[in-house]
Parts: sequence; structure tokens; C-alpha cells
Amino acid sequence: MAKKSIDLLSVTDPDWVNGIIENFDTFLADHANCERKASSLAMSMVVRYPDRPKIIPALVELAQEELEHFGQVYELMEKRGVSLIKDEPDPYVNQLGKKMRHGRTDRFLDQLLVSSLIECRGAERFRLIAEALEEPDLKQFYKILAGTEAKHGNVFVDMALHYFSEDEVYPRLQELAESEAEIVAGLEWRASLH
Ligand SMILES: [Fe+2]
Ligand SMILES: [Fe+2]
Repeated sequence: MAKKSIDLLSVTDPDWVNGIIENFDTFLADHANCERKASSLAMSMVVRYPDRPKIIPALVELAQEELEHFGQVYELMEKRGVSLIKDEPDPYVNQLGKKMRHGRTDRFLDQLLVSSLIECRGAERFRLIAEALEEPDLKQFYKILAGTEAKHGNVFVDMALHYFSEDEVYPRLQELAESEAEIVAGLEWRASLH
């Protein structure tokens, strides 16, 4: 798919990845949860927007891909003897959620655009992880994942463009990207994706 998402307005501090590599098992447990929640969110949108049938096939495919990612991360965890953890609040996702408007149509658009930004940030960070890892299989896994999440960043904008014009989509995406960059700048480091 052609690029539909926009570039993030900040880059992750290169030092961010050092702690991730040092605490990789803790990171993996959070990563697994992120994939599982991404899959659930896609299916919850299918339920929430039955009046938006044009996006349903893409959402189903997304839910499947994210669930596959969850399975792949869990397999890595099993091999390394790492257990699943309970969900912890994700300050990044929660703060982004607060930026979404409330009217049904506005919320629908914002949900898609915020999802695109989350995917793009995931892609950016998975790429940093792939570059920092030394073990070839793991490195390759994160490299592929970075590509898929970048594609998802485009898929969400493409969904928005089924129902909104470019003039509605891109200025709002720019605003939300500004908020996203501010939120990222304020996050405390954790051994997690966000
Ligand atoms: Fe994923
Ligand atoms: Fe994704």
C-alpha cells in the first residue's frame, strides 16, 4: 500500500533502546500485551461501527495479524521462560485517548488517526530494537514486525479516507501527531513499548 500515514513529529531518543535490550524479558511481556490489545481493539471497532462496512475487511485482517504477532511474541516468551503479565495502564495510549473528540463522527475519525500514529510509533521503536539486537533471528523478527506495523499505520489512514476527505483527514492527523509527540516527550522510561 502507498504511504498514507504521516511522519511522526519526533524521533525516539536513541538511548531509549539500551534499557529495552537490558530488560528484554520484561519488555517482551509488555510487547505481547500490546499486540493482544491491538487485535482486540480492531475487533471492538467492528462491533462499534457496523454502519461503516467499508472498513470491516481491513479491521478483520488487522485483528488477525495482531493476534498472529501476539502468538509469535508468546512463543518467544515461552522459549525464554517468560510469563504473561496482567495489563498495566499504558500512559501513552491513555493520554492519546484523551485527545480524541466525543461526537460519534469525530470520534470515529480520531480513533482511526490515533491508531495510525500508535502503529507508526510501534514501527519506529521496533526498528530501533531490530537495529540494537544481536541475535539474528530476533533481529529479523523485529525488522519484519517494524514493516508490518508501518503498513498498519497506512491502513488506518486508508480506512479514514473511505469516509472522510483528505482535507478532513490530514489536518486532523497533523494535530494529533503534534499531541502524540508531546505525549512521547513526557513519558517516563519503562521497559515497555511506550
Ligand atoms: Fe502488531
Ligand atoms: Fe499493528
